[in-house]
Amino acid sequence: MSLPKLLMARAVFPEVLERLSAHFEVQANQADTVWSKAELTERLKGKQAAFTTGGDRIDAEVLAACPDLKICANMAVGYNNFDIDAMTAAGVLATNAPDVLTETTADFGFALLMATARRIAESEHFLRAGQWTKWSFDMFAGSDIHGATLGILGMGRIGQGIARRGAHGFGMNVIYHNRSRLEAGLEAECKARYVSKEELLKTADHLVLVLPYSAASHHAMGAAELALMKPTATLVNIARGGIVDDAALALALKNKTIAAAGLDVFEGEPLVHPGLLDVPNVVLTPHIASASIPTRLAMANLAADNLIAFIGGKAPLTPLNPAVLERR
Ligand code: GLV
Repeated sequence: MSLPKLLMARAVFPEVLERLSAHFEVQANQADTVWSKAELTERLKGKQAAFTTGGDRIDAEVLAACPDLKICANMAVGYNNFDIDAMTAAGVLATNAPDVLTETTADFGFALLMATARRIAESEHFLRAGQWTKWSFDMFAGSDIHGATLGILGMGRIGQGIARRGAHGFGMNVIYHNRSRLEAGLEAECKARYVSKEELLKTADHLVLVLPYSAASHHAMGAAELALMKPTATLVNIARGGIVDDAALALALKNKTIAAAGLDVFEGEPLVHPGLLDVPNVVLTPHIASASIPTRLAMANLAADNLIAFIGGKAPLTPLNPAVLERR
């Protein structure tokens, strides 16, 4: 019996590829070539399954050209690269990779917050450039983390992880805003107080963005929102590019209407707004918040588990449009 055909949109750990090869006829991409949408579509033709990452767009156009496709497993918790409605209409199951990356991503959010507030990247560049000739009292003086007010916009699992680190590890006063308020037990665990978005922006000393990207959250932090923040505040984005208006942020950083930013995600990745590259008060990392080896392996294995379960007629672990399964 021939095996179902699986396209790997990007390179993956060899052991995950080996697992998948026992269940699928795999077309791998271990050279890790980034295909255009047209190239991805061409390669997906005749495939029943796809292993995708957050940069691989699956929409109505792709689906119309690939009628054999039955499942796309994203190796990411975010899935704004999927048009879920179009996938459901086409009977294509979508899965993502939540939970396994929560703590690693919260660790990184905190690392980026600390690097930003304490000006670690900026001071390291200064030292490497041979500019350190004397110590001075205000050299790279930043803002404190401990005891400060930590604002979190988007209070899902990762937001809660950041809140716990801030409240329990650093004695921070944690406030948050979310589409829906957490139940009281979770709020108490995170020592977090629900506030309006306006109060969040106006009172946070450090604001961390962890909300999912959608049409509704596009430019949730634009010029007007940035203008509400304290001039001493820092902003950290580990959510998605497009949630912050990067041009407006570059201007706010240049004019010092906020003190600093730490950014792991950008509009139009892997391109970065030139205005952000021009200012010293920003720490820039290339979308690596979940990038510890154990976590990336767990994400890849979860995507593989979803593919293997689905193709074996079993329930996938993390379906995004389970209605498709009911029609099976
Ligand atoms: C990373 O950005 C993810 O969504 O997993």
